Amino acid sequence: MAIQRGFSKSKATKSATSPILVLAATVTAIAIIFLIFSLLSTTSSNPNSPQHHQLRRYLYWGDRIDCPGKHCDSCEGLGHQESSLRCALEEALFLQRTFVMPSRMCINPIHNKKGILHHSVANATSEEMWAGSSCAMDSLYDVDRMSETIPVILDNSKEWYHVLETSMKLGARGVAHVQGVSRVELKQDTHYSGLLLINRTASPLSWFMECKDRNNRSAIMLPYSFLPSMAARKLRDAAEKVHLTHNLFKASL
Ligand SMILES: *[C@@H]1O[C@H](CO)[C@@H](O)[C@H](O)[C@H]1NC(C)=O
Ligand SMILES: *[C@@H]1O[C@H](CO)[C@@H](O)[C@H](O)[C@H]1NC(C)=O
Ligand SMILES: *[C@@H]1O[C@H](CO)[C@@H](O)[C@H](O)[C@H]1NC(C)=O
Repeated sequence: MAIQRGFSKSKATKSATSPILVLAATVTAIAIIFLIFSLLSTTSSNPNSPQHHQLRRYLYWGDRIDCPGKHCDSCEGLGHQESSLRCALEEALFLQRTFVMPSRMCINPIHNKKGILHHSVANATSEEMWAGSSCAMDSLYDVDRMSETIPVILDNSKEWYHVLETSMKLGARGVAHVQGVSRVELKQDTHYSGLLLINRTASPLSWFMECKDRNNRSAIMLPYSFLPSMAARKLRDAAEKVHLTHNLFKASL
């Protein structure tokens, strides 16, 4: 009887200590993981720190993503433009250059043509029409988040003005204006690879045309879901709300 009781007692203490041991082990493991992460994040320097800019090289494709229509006064749908932007971002990734992104992107021409804007733009210049139907890029995409995959800056940023100034000073030693040169050549030819800035004049109708090897699956570096997943925080929150409302609505039926 006594043995029996003693046995069950030791079993009870054993089962009481083992969760504590498990907990201690878990806490230790988590602490170690945090330590490793914090060490990693301090050793990898912040890509937006001023020192980093000195080492950056840039790729510029122009100030508008797609420019269809005689005077760029119309714009393609968002899907089309995202394909074009992705094509440019892939080149930047391939060349390991910071991509200089247009600070505005034209969207929703159909709504604008049908809507209130239609009357007031009757006499507007194509420039005004474009401005009226375009959105600030950083209201559409989370530029910082995008930069974690491909460093990007906007073409209205201080950094870009600084690059322009520097490349002007350096002249041909700082910038190359290219059209129809393959990205492989841009990477391998030392004439291009060391330059501060590569200014590619992309296909005026659609940047997407620069990615002719789209059918070659191994040439695709960014998935179709990349840009949608980089939507600006506000848009993501809004989408979340719409989704939530939609589910609530469905649930209430
Ligand atoms: C548009 O231009 C025409 C001719 O130049 C002018 O008569 C008209 O008042 C203008 N309309 C607006 C809304 O500015
Ligand atoms: C890029 O090249 C085009 C065509 O040569 C030129 O019109 C444009 O001004 C250049 N832009 C920059 C920033 O160098
Ligand atoms: C497909 O792309 C890969 C990577 O860029 C390249 O090495 C390969 O030669 C391409 N194949 C064809 C058929 O173009």
